Amino acid sequence: MKILASLAIVGGLFLLGMLGAVPGLGWVFGVVLPYLAVALFLGGLIHRVMSWANAPVPFRITTTCGQQKSLDWIKQDKLENPHNFLTVIGRMALEILCFRSLVRNTKTELTAARKVVYATDLWLWLGAIAMHYSLLVILIRHLRMATNPVPFFVTWLQWADGFLEVGVPVVYVTTVAFLLALAYLLLRRVVDAKLRYISLPGDYFALFLLLGIGLSGFYLRHLAKTDIVAVKQLAVGLVSFRPTVPDTISFLFYGHLFLVCVLLAYFPFSKLVHMPGVFLSPTRNLANNNRMVRHVNPWDYPVKTHSYEAYEDEWREKMKASGVPVDKE
Ligand code: HEM
Repeated sequence: MKILASLAIVGGLFLLGMLGAVPGLGWVFGVVLPYLAVALFLGGLIHRVMSWANAPVPFRITTTCGQQKSLDWIKQDKLENPHNFLTVIGRMALEILCFRSLVRNTKTELTAARKVVYATDLWLWLGAIAMHYSLLVILIRHLRMATNPVPFFVTWLQWADGFLEVGVPVVYVTTVAFLLALAYLLLRRVVDAKLRYISLPGDYFALFLLLGIGLSGFYLRHLAKTDIVAVKQLAVGLVSFRPTVPDTISFLFYGHLFLVCVLLAYFPFSKLVHMPGVFLSPTRNLANNNRMVRHVNPWDYPVKTHSYEAYEDEWREKMKASGVPVDKE
């Protein structure tokens, strides 16, 4: 049910976006909504990041899997358990660029003999890497539509991405990788009963939304042959704050653009916000220097303590009388 509902919502949003091609509505779907979506995206992200940054983290949260810095003769695992800024950068870079913690993903299965078995499962890591890197390349390539002249790295990336030279216009490797990776990420949630059980409507919605954007983009490039000059006019107008809405833009393009607007507006309020979140994750960005520095809880208030010495002074005679050993005779 939650799968079909998410699919229906994304389908409905796409149809709604197509209204942009109706005469008179181009300004709403081509200018007002994109600006609104970007404002929500930026405002929402700033709000989320500020709320994380303002949360006090008095102690080091050291959920790590390697030996922390200790005595000189105990070998430290610098990347698992960094103790200074430089090694923290190393751990963060591996996490952000290589999704290192996802490599540890394991699967649990019940065999026919009703035995629980655990095994490494790198498919999720591979799917996630393929999806995220393809998305990055696609977004950089899209800059050609909003820039004039087109920056050299965009032209270069476009050339490298289309090196297979298949089809006219050429099919980009990342377009295919993006769609295949998304299809895999969606199917694993649908096919595996355990994953289906823990999946939320928001998980399917995000995947269908990205898939909708990717499929409509593929259709625009390879089947519908969009009026790319008109799209560029719209995009350059938007980024230079002098918007114009050419009337030769197809309704399919408006569907694509509207789904992108929904994604932008939805991003800061959904689990997709893990993108900036990883930078503020205390378990990743805090050095474990617990054995080098004494961290005092800033919320500690003076508490009246009762030391063992004072306790013994108070009860010594009674302790001796009942045979309890004492430190000081
Ligand atoms: C999250 C943002 C977006 C994603 C993931 C996305 C994805 C895609 C994909 C996968 C394609 C297929 C061809 C390719 O890979 O380049 C495509 C094509 C296209 N997209 Fe997007 N898109 C996004 C944002 C936008 C925006 C904001 C615009 C408006 C300027 C746009 C306009 C187009 C057009 C016109 C095409 C056809 C390109 C061509 O004919 O070469 N897209 N998009």
